[in-house]
Amino acid sequence: MVTLKPKALFIGYGHLAKSLTSKKLLSLLNICALNSKGEIRNINLKKKISNNNNYAYEYVFLLTRPKTFLRIGSQFQKYLSKDTIIISCMAGIKFSTIEQNLKTKKIIRIMPNVMASNSKSQTHIYLKNKKLISNDLNKILSSFGKIINVRNEDQINFATSIYGSGPAFIAYILNSFIKASKKLAKPFNVNEKELLELFKNVLDINSSSRMLDSFVGSISSKRGTTQAGVNYIKSQKIEKIIYTTLYKAYKRAKEIDSEQKSTKTK
Ligand SMILES: NC(=O)c1ccc[n+]([C@@H]2O[C@H](COP(=O)([O-])OP(=O)(O)OC[C@H]3O[C@@H](n4cnc5c(N)ncnc54)[C@H](OP(=O)(O)O)[C@@H]3O)[C@@H](O)[C@H]2O)c1
Repeated sequence: MVTLKPKALFIGYGHLAKSLTSKKLLSLLNICALNSKGEIRNINLKKKISNNNNYAYEYVFLLTRPKTFLRIGSQFQKYLSKDTIIISCMAGIKFSTIEQNLKTKKIIRIMPNVMASNSKSQTHIYLKNKKLISNDLNKILSSFGKIINVRNEDQINFATSIYGSGPAFIAYILNSFIKASKKLAKPFNVNEKELLELFKNVLDINSSSRMLDSFVGSISSKRGTTQAGVNYIKSQKIEKIIYTTLYKAYKRAKEIDSEQKSTKTK
């Protein structure tokens, strides 16, 4: 017997949407993607299909930028049926705003990251109605990686900062270490692969913040080389810099939704 895969519409098919579309996901869903020109493509079949709105989508994933949704979100109502479950991946856009624009309460907010392409996303999930998560949907969301359920909608804003934007912050910090190492060791060549392995090795033998603290202590001997460097890092208040980086992303996630209210009232 042939079982038909549930149909899903990705509204927006940019960076995140492409990362979510693993082979595993394609084996679970029949995915169509809508672009900014209103064209729909079947991603499994790799072909354009006619946009006659006759598709009953079981799932609609919101994958446009938040400002696009705030501007024209209500136009996406035409892709929904009464049973469609909305899965919003957008940063900042609140449950209540999605509900108002799409006239449905069947909404789940998720915050995945681009590591879904490797099944390594740590996807945070917020929903009001637990019954929306069926076994099928659980499998679909698990194809992105690990699932972390949160109870408060504001936790999605923290997840946006730490797990959504965080990979870019971490990449920036690691790359700064690589660039600085190369600059220091010039004219000799520093092997980037060795440096990346160094990061992995440090993580391999330390599995908690406490272990990392004592790891630093175990390498730093009095008046030694490590202490000279660590004293400098501490004096530059690196923890405060990282806190402010994360806070700025969190604050931005909280601002996004109210931007709609301020433009609407103008
Ligand atoms: N990137 C991440 O790491 C990440 C992580 C977590 C959450 N998010 C969230 O995911 C969402 C998408 O982010 P992204 O980085 O993937 O953005 P992106 O690469 O800019 O993709 C946005 C997509 O939206 C499409 N689009 C624009 N107007 C549209 C319309 N009227 N109808 C249908 N599609 C339209 C664009 O299509 P065209 O190609 O036709 O212009 C584009 O493919 C955002 O809300 C973001 O907050 C992203």
